[in-house]
Amino acid sequence: MKTKTKANFLTLEMFETIEIIELIDRAIELKHGARAMDLSDMTVANLFFENSTRTKCSFQMAEHRLRMKEIPFDVSTSSVQKGETLADTCRTLEAIGVDMLVVRHGETGYYEQLQNELNIPLINGGDGSGQHPSQSLLDLMTIRETFGQFTGLTVAICGDLAHSRVARSNVDALKRLGARVVGSGPVDWADPTLGIEHVGIDDAVEADVLMLLRVQHERHDGTMAFDPGDYHAAHGLTIARYGKLKDHAIVMHPAPINRGVEIASELVEYPKSRIFEQMTNGVYARMAILERAMRMKKEMEMGTSR
Ligand code: CP
Repeated sequence: MKTKTKANFLTLEMFETIEIIELIDRAIELKHGARAMDLSDMTVANLFFENSTRTKCSFQMAEHRLRMKEIPFDVSTSSVQKGETLADTCRTLEAIGVDMLVVRHGETGYYEQLQNELNIPLINGGDGSGQHPSQSLLDLMTIRETFGQFTGLTVAICGDLAHSRVARSNVDALKRLGARVVGSGPVDWADPTLGIEHVGIDDAVEADVLMLLRVQHERHDGTMAFDPGDYHAAHGLTIARYGKLKDHAIVMHPAPINRGVEIASELVEYPKSRIFEQMTNGVYARMAILERAMRMKKEMEMGTSR
């Protein structure tokens, strides 16, 4: 493992495949009522430099269920507004006794240097166009819950691949777990670095898992013309395309959803959609992530870590 502390959770690439499966299965166990760790002696701060509803609130819910104490941190009223750097902000929180940090930041790979400056676990809640490992874990959990395995499945990841940290996190993990992954969407938003075949949406709907991506307007430079209706017709999940899905297929989306763009609004809660289930699963996936980080932290402090 490349990171200074093995308790960090920065990308799924830093984990062995067996460790990813252990995290998925722990999340599923927790969903089925397994006893969660009692982390009432631990404090955590959630630093969200980019907007979030699901990731921030489900980390907070996971922390609540593990009895952790949250030290409230709001970027807009913090000394970040006086020019304090991310590293100094995080080191300040460590210095006052916070045991763990969850950070979302707009800079891709913000954690590369930061991880060397901290001695407490750092959990990546999303970095720019880089990685979104907790989203990936909940996505993997949702697929494993539905199909029991990954081998033999085709997962089509559709949409704004070039700007998607969700796609980047999922492609590598899904391949390692045995799934075939294809991409779909405007060719201008294809990403050759993902190393996946690019297909049209009418081929993508033959997949077992149709994973739609949000169009990330905030990461676009404005040079490409965009019409929501045209995008929906050419690349989105329309009612007609939904009718072509396999009987057992599922539809996923990390949300927030642009209704009528990536997916027809009424399909969001159709039977094959797992979109709100993904949000529910996010709490259990994040509980598993926090449990692991705190267990590793305690083992390292006691000198028993492998
Ligand atoms: N899927 C996701 O990351 O949603 P938020 O931006 O609301 O956290």
